[in-house]
Amino acid sequence: MSKTIHYLKDYTAPAYRILKTDLHFDILEPQTIVKSSLTVQPERAGEPLVLDGSAKLLSVKVNGQTVDYVLEDEKLTIAGVPSENFTLEVETEILPAENKSLMGLYASGGNLFTQCEPEGFRKIAFYIDRPDVMSKFTTTIVADKKRYPVLLSNGNKIDGGEFSDGRHWVKWEDPFAKPSYLFALVAGDLAVTEDYFTTMSGRKVKIEFYTTETDKPKVGFAVESLKNAMKWDETRFGLEYDLDIFMVVAVGDFNMGAMENKGLNIFNTKFVLANSRTATDTDFEGIESVVGHEYFHNWTGNRVTCRDWFQLSLKEGLTVFRDQEFSSDRASRVVRRIDNVRMLRLFQFPEDAGPTAHPVRPASYEEMNNFYTMTVYEKGAEVVRMYHTLLGEEGFQKGMKLYFQRHDGQAVTCDDFRAAMADANGINLDQFALWYSQAGTPVLDAQGRLKDGAFELTIKQTIPATPDMADKQPMMIPVKTGLLNEKGEAVEFEYQGKRVKEAVLVLTEAEQTFVLGSVNEPVIPSLLRDFSAPVTLNYPYSEQELATLLAADENEFARWEAAQTLYHRAINANRQALAEGRPLPEHKALMDALALVVSGDFDPAFRAILLQMPSETDVWAEEENIDPIQVHQAREALLNAVAVKFLPQWRELNRQAAEQENQADAAVRYEYSPELAGWRTLRNACRAFILRADAAHIEHVAENYEAMAQNMTHEWGILSAINSNESEIRDRLLTQFADKFADDALVMDKYFALIASSRRKDTLQQVQTALNHPKFSIENPNKARSLLMSFSRNILHFHAENGSGYRFVADKVMEIDRFNPQVAARLVQAFNICNKLEANRKAVMTKELQRIHAQEGLSKDVGEIVGKILNEK
Ligand code: TRP
Ligand code: ZN
Repeated sequence: MSKTIHYLKDYTAPAYRILKTDLHFDILEPQTIVKSSLTVQPERAGEPLVLDGSAKLLSVKVNGQTVDYVLEDEKLTIAGVPSENFTLEVETEILPAENKSLMGLYASGGNLFTQCEPEGFRKIAFYIDRPDVMSKFTTTIVADKKRYPVLLSNGNKIDGGEFSDGRHWVKWEDPFAKPSYLFALVAGDLAVTEDYFTTMSGRKVKIEFYTTETDKPKVGFAVESLKNAMKWDETRFGLEYDLDIFMVVAVGDFNMGAMENKGLNIFNTKFVLANSRTATDTDFEGIESVVGHEYFHNWTGNRVTCRDWFQLSLKEGLTVFRDQEFSSDRASRVVRRIDNVRMLRLFQFPEDAGPTAHPVRPASYEEMNNFYTMTVYEKGAEVVRMYHTLLGEEGFQKGMKLYFQRHDGQAVTCDDFRAAMADANGINLDQFALWYSQAGTPVLDAQGRLKDGAFELTIKQTIPATPDMADKQPMMIPVKTGLLNEKGEAVEFEYQGKRVKEAVLVLTEAEQTFVLGSVNEPVIPSLLRDFSAPVTLNYPYSEQELATLLAADENEFARWEAAQTLYHRAINANRQALAEGRPLPEHKALMDALALVVSGDFDPAFRAILLQMPSETDVWAEEENIDPIQVHQAREALLNAVAVKFLPQWRELNRQAAEQENQADAAVRYEYSPELAGWRTLRNACRAFILRADAAHIEHVAENYEAMAQNMTHEWGILSAINSNESEIRDRLLTQFADKFADDALVMDKYFALIASSRRKDTLQQVQTALNHPKFSIENPNKARSLLMSFSRNILHFHAENGSGYRFVADKVMEIDRFNPQVAARLVQAFNICNKLEANRKAVMTKELQRIHAQEGLSKDVGEIVGKILNEK
């Protein structure tokens, strides 16, 4: 098939609409027969009717009569259709058990599931498979009652019955019009956990969670999370659930986290199942936020959906913002914010600076599945957060209200959202549109000086060129700013006629000077507080100034940021020293600051996050000619120095954290709670430093393992801390762990992730052995991600000088691409860094990319990514 690129500028409204969609699924072995009956309304009669579809076509009828059609390139074209409303009946046959792409209808563990977003519905039935075609669906499912006792689809169950041959049927009706990507069907032998939620208007909504019978005891936390999310959306956004039933189904084989199908969410088991023996505190937090995310889509995504896939961030950016706010309202706001910013820097910034860089609203795509990216999701959420920063909570909620008033039941664009925000607040947000069309992380260079009783802050913005666009316009960038004096006290200043301690400076020019009045002493600016915009900001702080910000800024985010800058400078100083063969510097400013963090009176979770250094990716972010291992070693050297310098303190802190946990009630001591989670994160940070400084401590760990490993957060923390130890004790503990949890797929994912992320010399060999582990399956995305994606992020081994890491990952990309292009296309993005590497590695990696590119039958998913990397510059 020839390469087709889709462009935003080519959008045209559909020529036909589908008022009603009646689906009939006959589940047989091995085939499923799908009959669709569509009520079609011509918008531009005379144009041919074109349907998308890749299932095996059995028959086509218009108003009950067979018709002529052309079937080509997965498109069914019917030239002569009536100019009035008509009925179109199409029959297809599919083989779900053979479908390993996990898009469309597929089998997992003997049950059947669907995944339709973005263009999976066409693998099931012929349809106008685009989000601006919205239709009311009914779904009838017929299947053997023993094998498939549970038959689910969207909306309400309205009918059902049994046949004499042991088969049964159910009919579902969804009263809300929706695009095909929100369709879902589940058939199988599943256990249900029931609950209910009473909405703010007093309606009782049934809640049903479907899992395997054995997993039932692990579903409680997800159910509670859903109820919390439903409540939160009412109190914070005034949004109520709109159907009488909300169903969630857990599936072990899933390409992503979860899917917001109307009334019938389908979830990766990873985001549903947990108890404290098998899931870490971080896993619990993940469940809460993903359950929230999918639920929040009911309004931001389903009730108001996207006009076309270029607008994906309309629903995803907004819904990520909403789930972030939900999590922040539930526990430590600043820690959540820092976590999100870390993720953004680790994954989104490199994406925005690499060959696949694209704006929050992409201008073109070859394979839509490739655009479920950190940019669309996480940068998209930052864009929504900037409205919130500019307008305040009240102004933002006014905008949301207008958005729903105008667009409930419609398929709209990011411009419609921006217009609602602007109109509800009577402000002009024209320039803000550039956040949707210009890729690349803006760089702000700031300078400050005291002049005539004012602090003058000059900020220059540069938006780097990206492969899609060379020259860019200055953007509208909110910079939340405060001032500190040299003692670390907040300094009031005058801005826009008011005396304030903090102001949101709105940068709109390429270079702009802000005058903060009535300042009569030397000050330290605290800039980009709370990370008020997704940019890189440089300011020539002295080390003393950074230390003051870290110790005293009222804005906790800014304190963390000051620590990051100190770490960053220390890692670079180590790089310099290593390159020149000099002894490593002492890093006095950083060590003094850390002494304060170690001994000070901080919230434990905040303290733990202050102890995390910027990643290698952060360090090389703006560089070319990168030697990844040199950066890695400089960072490791700093970690070692910090570990050794504060060893007695790590031991003491570790003891204190244990004590805090022991003070908790025995019944909840090892259960997830935000407070205890903070102490456990801190404790695991200490464990990592202790084992770094004292490798022989592993013997003590081995002897006391069972006593220490009281829940999965501890177990994971201990195993992570010993994971790079070269002794056979490490292997023994890991094997013991794998034996203990052999029957728990989600814990086995953790085992494979540990194997793949070790710094041990034999890691690649251990990964290769793990491919043959009886619990490993390359067809399962969670397993592939745990072992292979983790390995591709293992800097030491992926970037091994002899090219073995690159070759291994390239082989696996090609293997996976044959059955699951979506997962393969994720894995291949490990090669995005190619053209920024030093010459030798770049050459080796390029060869691997060329090898992938030449593979016969390569998917367009992988082809699009590899093509972009090879064509860069
Ligand atoms: N809309 C889903 C979410 O973010 C994303 C998703 C789930 C998805 N499964 C998918 C996207 C498969 C593409 C393919 O909540
Ligand atoms: Zn989403």
